[in-house]
Amino acid sequence: MGIIELQHIKKEYRSGAIVTPALTDIDLNIEKGDFVAIMGASGSGKTTLLNIIGCMDTPTDGTYLFNGQDLSCASETTLSAIRGKRIAFVFQHFALIDDYSVFENVEVPLIKRITSKTERKKKVLSALQTVGIAELAKKKPTQISAGQKQRVAIARAVACGADVILADEPTGALDSTTGKEIMQLFSDLNAAGKTIILITHDKQIASYAKRLITIQDGRILNDEQI
Ligand SMILES: Nc1ncnc2c1ncn2[C@@H]1O[C@H](COP(=O)(O)OP(=O)(O)O)[C@@H](O)[C@H]1O
Ligand SMILES: [Mg+2]
Repeated sequence: MGIIELQHIKKEYRSGAIVTPALTDIDLNIEKGDFVAIMGASGSGKTTLLNIIGCMDTPTDGTYLFNGQDLSCASETTLSAIRGKRIAFVFQHFALIDDYSVFENVEVPLIKRITSKTERKKKVLSALQTVGIAELAKKKPTQISAGQKQRVAIARAVACGADVILADEPTGALDSTTGKEIMQLFSDLNAAGKTIILITHDKQIASYAKRLITIQDGRILNDEQI
């Protein structure tokens, strides 16, 4: 059994009488510890697929099993618990809070869950160390480079203890050298046991993954080990 199992997933966006099909009959099984790159033309459904996997959006039809649990009819409370603890997102433009320090950005999602300040601090510092930026803890996002910002976003995902990290074009705003460094970090996290699913437009970036899924017009066109 995979950690993520999609069966006949369909997604349509409706706005009045206009229906936009985004995903058509997606069957997908992702095992714990997998490292998956998703490629496909703009508008092919990549973000929609990642958002459904990440419980940020719900399918119009089909079944989604996360760790064997059927989420198709799960409550928002259940979905939000999985989103916070089991699955974390990394975005192209980092999604950091500019007024907060690097430390605080990583700490924010933990505040509700871990009431002990000392325990939180330990988790944040350990995550910053994992991504190699412990010395930047006190800096603001405006004082660090784009690659360092992405490391903060990845530290935030690591600190919350998620076993699945989803990344929507995480190197899309980085130069190619920095992009490769970030991919090396994803590789290291994968080697340490994290399941990673990322979207990219770049074949070289995709080559860091173990599996490449190509999407076309809301369908899986190709799915191969690489
Ligand atoms: N919130 C939305 N409302 C309406 N249509 C949407 C919405 N999000 C995406 N779509 C449409 O769904 C299709 C797939 O989009 P998306 O998943 O963003 O593709 P990709 O990430 O591959 O560029 C596109 O036709 C897009 O226009
Ligand atoms: Mg997209």
